[in-house]
Amino acid sequence: MSYPFQVRTREEYDAAYKKSVEDPEGFWADVADTFVWKKRWDKTLEWNFTGPDVKWFAGGKLNITENCLDRHLATRGNEPAIIWEPNDPEEHHHIFTYKALHHKVMQFANVLKNNGVKKGDRVCIYMGMVPELAIAVLACARIGAIHSVIFGGFSAQSIADRLQDAQAEYVVTCDGAYRGNKDIPLKSVIDDALVQCRFVKRVVVLTRTRIPVSMLKGRDVWWEDEIKKVETMGNPDCPAEEMDAEDPLFILYTSGSTGKPKGVVHTCGGYMVYTTYSFVNVFQYKPDDIHFCTADIGWITGHSYIVYGPLCAGATSLIFEGVPTWPDAGRFWSIVDKYKVNILYTAPTAIRSLMSFGTGPVNAHSLESLRVLGTVGEPINEEAWHWYDEHIGKGRCPIVDTWWQTETGGTMISNLAGVTPSKPSYATLPLPGIQPVLVDEQGNELQGNGVTGNLCIKFPWPSIIRTTWGDHERCRTNYFATYPGMYFTGDGCLRDEEGFYRITGRVDDVLNVSGHRIGTAEVENAINMHAGVIESAVVGYPHDIKGQGIYAYVIYDGTHHDPALTRQDIAQTVGRIIGPIARPDKVQFVPGLPKTRSGKIMRRILRKIAEGETENLGDTSTLLDPGVVEEIKKGKV
Ligand code: WTA
Repeated sequence: MSYPFQVRTREEYDAAYKKSVEDPEGFWADVADTFVWKKRWDKTLEWNFTGPDVKWFAGGKLNITENCLDRHLATRGNEPAIIWEPNDPEEHHHIFTYKALHHKVMQFANVLKNNGVKKGDRVCIYMGMVPELAIAVLACARIGAIHSVIFGGFSAQSIADRLQDAQAEYVVTCDGAYRGNKDIPLKSVIDDALVQCRFVKRVVVLTRTRIPVSMLKGRDVWWEDEIKKVETMGNPDCPAEEMDAEDPLFILYTSGSTGKPKGVVHTCGGYMVYTTYSFVNVFQYKPDDIHFCTADIGWITGHSYIVYGPLCAGATSLIFEGVPTWPDAGRFWSIVDKYKVNILYTAPTAIRSLMSFGTGPVNAHSLESLRVLGTVGEPINEEAWHWYDEHIGKGRCPIVDTWWQTETGGTMISNLAGVTPSKPSYATLPLPGIQPVLVDEQGNELQGNGVTGNLCIKFPWPSIIRTTWGDHERCRTNYFATYPGMYFTGDGCLRDEEGFYRITGRVDDVLNVSGHRIGTAEVENAINMHAGVIESAVVGYPHDIKGQGIYAYVIYDGTHHDPALTRQDIAQTVGRIIGPIARPDKVQFVPGLPKTRSGKIMRRILRKIAEGETENLGDTSTLLDPGVVEEIKKGKV
């Protein structure tokens, strides 16, 4: 497979960037022409950011799975598409060639059809990191069903909220999932969620851990039995449904600063083009490279850079079921050596966590196959960057620091491995086709270098969010209303003297805990559900490993006998309502919260106290009760 759109030198980068700004339509049409379309598009781009209303490749017809699978059969049919490494290193791994994966996807697509799933139906997928998760995702795409993958760490309540919002009538899950020394009862969590979701018609359950499960008559079926049924039907083929370029491909829920998580919608054509384009360019993918992205498919990183981008590029993508620290902290490194991994893409949190074990677990491995390293999900601190560079890359692998979001579908700002320069803790330069701008609070564009502001994008790219499921107005107000005419990212950013971008973190009330996005309002709502809690305010604080930790200030009704236990109960409640990833690290009981006369909580002050600052809390004179600040400072945990 060759990639005509791969930029290979700094000069090519500059030329591509220039062309992408001067003639965006021509630029993207050239990239899109390298894919398989059932019918070529009529118009490359129609857009306005007021609606917003963005259409890429309008009138084009395609199926993304033909690009991920069918088109590789003749040339790469016997090459590995997916390598699966199980949680337990003693268990046998699996390799799926493109032919095998194609076959499995068609089989499961037929299972979905047999169970009544039709084009446009929403299918919720809640599974561990087994190959069948990727198969289920692709099978949905094959028949035009809209998948919504939910990360295995979300609670029953979170699942129910998402199922209701998407009105998903079909669920695909596993009996359980292995993660390190844990065995997570996924089906049982689904059962709890479905108590509130009577509209769900069918649950397909894959056997993984053999933990006992209850199967409801008429609703629940086993994956394995359903596969047998379609096998005996004779024809294993499942034609790829003809999709419009702008038909939804999937919904992925993500947290914002207000309310419940919103369903980010990506569409078939633009998402396919951009994930493949960015995959090939950022990692400088070469045919036969083994690509190991350690994210979970439940997040956008897994969607774009485990499944769709790599497979469209005919790459070999490694799926790992387990965790970096089990059975020991050398697990990633032994996987790298076992499969001769060339590209490793992981999160700063994982790097920091592995760093804390020292270099012993690293030095037991050669790591000589590695060629490119990547990070994603949160700012990487310089110390972690240098450790990654020195001990993992041995100083010879470019590190790509990829900045992007669920809403952007693919990497937006990043160096291109070995082609454009890297700079520790900088995402560096936009990909050709991406036009970032920094604005001040009033929305004025900040010109020149050496400026800091809020990061916006002023021109559409093919995988831009199209809508938030069921509520287009929410999409507009969240992303397109703050600075009219621009997409607002929610991130703060510095453009240094050389023109390199450095993401400084969220400027809204969204936390980034271990690379997971969590809204403070969501956590507060969950805390407030705990009996005895009167009010709460949640802020982030710097955490050595997780990047940010969750600090909760809680007004409690005063009747608790054992504060330590009550703190744990509150954390437990959050775990129940959202999921373990949102459990507060610290809970402090306070007599009141610092509020302005109009009742607004001054989070700035709470953030400073959580960070350990006691002196320079800024102006507190507008507070209704400045005395409360002293009380809070005294009680810091
Ligand atoms: C943050 C993950 C600094 C940022 C792909 C963004 C980053 C949010 C980087 C999106 C990076 C992501 N450097 N910060 N390289 N990458 N972020 O939707 O705050 O889970 O807005 O997408 O993560 O998180 P999301």
